[in-house]
Amino acid sequence: MASSSSVTPIKVTKIACIGAGYVGGPTCSMIAHKCPHIQVTIVDMNQERIDAWNSDTLPIYEPGLEEVVKKCRGKNLFFSTDIDKAIIEADLIFVSVNTPTKKTGVGAGYAADLFYVESCTRRIASVATSSKIVVEKSTVPCRTAQSMRTILEANSRPGLRFDILSNPEFLAEGTAMSDLDKPDRVLIGSLSTPEGRAAQTSLIEVYSNWVPKEKVIGTGLWSSELTKLAANAILAQRISSINALSAICEVTGADVDEVAYACGLDSRIGPKFLKSSVGFGGSCFQKDILNLVYLSESLHLPEVADYWRQVITMNEYQKSRFAKTVVSSMFNTITNKKLAVLGFAFKKDTGDTRETPSATVCRFFRQENAKISIYDPKVSEKQIFLDLTEPGVVDDAAAAKKQVTVCQSAMEACTGAEGICILTEWDEFKQLDWPAIYKSMAKPAMVFDGRGILEADKLREIGFKVFSIGKGVNL
Ligand code: UDX
Ligand code: ADP
Repeated sequence: MASSSSVTPIKVTKIACIGAGYVGGPTCSMIAHKCPHIQVTIVDMNQERIDAWNSDTLPIYEPGLEEVVKKCRGKNLFFSTDIDKAIIEADLIFVSVNTPTKKTGVGAGYAADLFYVESCTRRIASVATSSKIVVEKSTVPCRTAQSMRTILEANSRPGLRFDILSNPEFLAEGTAMSDLDKPDRVLIGSLSTPEGRAAQTSLIEVYSNWVPKEKVIGTGLWSSELTKLAANAILAQRISSINALSAICEVTGADVDEVAYACGLDSRIGPKFLKSSVGFGGSCFQKDILNLVYLSESLHLPEVADYWRQVITMNEYQKSRFAKTVVSSMFNTITNKKLAVLGFAFKKDTGDTRETPSATVCRFFRQENAKISIYDPKVSEKQIFLDLTEPGVVDDAAAAKKQVTVCQSAMEACTGAEGICILTEWDEFKQLDWPAIYKSMAKPAMVFDGRGILEADKLREIGFKVFSIGKGVNL
């Protein structure tokens, strides 16, 4: 927590958030909702995205978000492309831009690309006319705060002060609004100077409008930056651990859900993040682990790098293992066979497809020349084709369209199929009219449950041949 300091903390009245994505949008909408006395302006260089935030159809789907935006928009919550104005007016600026994994150059495939963070830091430096608190929200490599500080100090008007804080976001998509409403903790890293402490106190005060004081943790900048990577790496590691065990279960006949449940009852282990699946996806886990691997290598700690890299290796193995099980179960060929893919988002209750295991599995099926019909309640056809035709991964959109159909319902996707793959755990898949689906399919009708959400015994009673991840190959 903030200690006594000789610098008086400022009272935040105007917040700017640069980056209106999955992090900046929900986080700053929640701040506006909980702090009616603070004016919050969320800016982005992407006009289309800002237009969507100002429309009836928000650019991202997140349960509870629309209500909050509609309540606050135009009162103390604004969405704009006028980045400079927002910077000039704000006392505190959140930097919530994307930090994807670098595709080329030094650290390609591992390091985070800080191009967007740097360009918006430079913009803050060049347009600010008063001192600011600048808060890193994006997940960034350790020491980014130091680089931001150097850029700001070297490029801003004389006499201005920039205090950098690290305030990593721990929200998970699909539950972002409840995570923001009742966070397990809010982490605010700062320099241990009087100015740093004062800035930390100012941000603590913003959160204290709704977060209990004991949940707001003050740390050093480095610890805060590393904690974000560490938390995601540890969560992903749990999933890879249970997925590694799922492979053993499938061979031995043990049931991975029983194993996870029994392990999770140990209070030292706990039940969460032990659900075996076709693999983890999302914009954070892989990116942050790769980041940690890169950091470890840069610090000449190859054993540490190898340790974390294995979490990703296991995830890749899980996706390909699932896809191979589908092919081997369908008599070793899926050429020209119709496969229904239910779910394309990386998890339920989001339309986000970044690093979705569904895309990897579909690409594998394409290479095996299957006909794929995909249904996802929240992902658009345009997005699905974008993900399946990424340059260098597979061929062009026209070829993809010959092989892939995007459907408007699960029933449509399954009609005439020989196999169904559940790749996202959408609740609606549990309640489908399975007898009707069975009737509509080619026989033998197979279901491959990559999320372990269906009642396999009931499906078998209908006549399906069923494979569930981690449940023994029992087709
Ligand atoms: C994650 C972290 O949870 C969050 O704290 C951080 O801020 C961002 O990264 P997110 O990627 O949105 O959040 O979703 P999460 O619920 O963590 O799921 C990630 C992936 O793991 C999904 O593909 C999900 O299906 C998978 N998963 C999760 C499992 O396979 N099994 C589990 O038990 C839990
Ligand atoms: P995240 O999941 O981290 O929120 P997103 O890609 O959803 O990532 O959102 C990041 C947003 O940041 C994008 O909408 C992008 O247009 C915006 N952005 C990136 N760089 C800048 C910049 N320099 N100025 C303004 N907006 C930016």
